[in-house]
Amino acid sequence: MATVAGQTDAWALRLGGLLLPLLFLGTAGSQRQVTTAPSSTARVGSGALLQCRFDVGGPVALDSLRVMWYFLDQEVASFKHSRSQAWPRASLPSHKELKSGDASLSLVAVTVPDGGLYRCVVGYGTQQHHGETILRLLAAPTLSVPRKPVVADAETSLLCHVGRFYPEDVDVAWLRDGEVLQGFTRSSPQRNADGTFNLTLTYTFTPARSNADSILSCYVRHEALEQPLQEDVSLDIRGESPHWDLPAALTLDTGELGM
Ligand SMILES: *[C@@H]1O[C@H](CO)[C@@H](O)[C@H](O)[C@H]1NC(C)=O
Repeated sequence: MATVAGQTDAWALRLGGLLLPLLFLGTAGSQRQVTTAPSSTARVGSGALLQCRFDVGGPVALDSLRVMWYFLDQEVASFKHSRSQAWPRASLPSHKELKSGDASLSLVAVTVPDGGLYRCVVGYGTQQHHGETILRLLAAPTLSVPRKPVVADAETSLLCHVGRFYPEDVDVAWLRDGEVLQGFTRSSPQRNADGTFNLTLTYTFTPARSNADSILSCYVRHEALEQPLQEDVSLDIRGESPHWDLPAALTLDTGELGM
């Protein structure tokens, strides 16, 4: 296999200097030379593949090929003089894939700051073409509702922390028995060091005995979630056995509180 590939290389090399640039020119008007997807989406922490394909109108001689990927005007990866170079989390395809017209950029462990416009520049002989693609990052929110005891007829605040989501746009609410409650407040999103956002929803109310058996829910809808996320809180204000073992259960134990 190595010998065959070597022979193909030598053949392509010999032809590369003269014939291929002509073929490249010959097709320049009739087909796009570099094809990219307008955008791709990746989840924070996962890998991303930014597609870029090129067509030189014939076999690809690697020593005539230049591939450069730019992000924010910085060169992220390049293939020049038959050698690949890339930033630590970036890589270009193998020589075999490059020969088949694949100049896609792979990124591992993407973070929010990796999102944005990338440019794939492919040069061949004297020709140069480029394509652009946008990498969109997504991070799904987490929900947490700290448990705390509540006292009947005393004002209390229920908190719901919505953590580590991206992008910033998020739809959140406190519900009672599935109905959106009025009068909860929503903090403005705080940016984390990793570029994701947190916010807190606060519902301040005075539990009454008539609230028995109500289910309060913190609800969040976000484009990184396939389905809305919800965390339910049951208010046991009858003062029966505490439910500390239940997730996010709120317990009013009048006996324990000395009432
Ligand atoms: C954001 O939320 C996450 C998950 O709840 C938490 O680990 C992190 O400490 C929060 N960041 C800030 C700045 O509060």
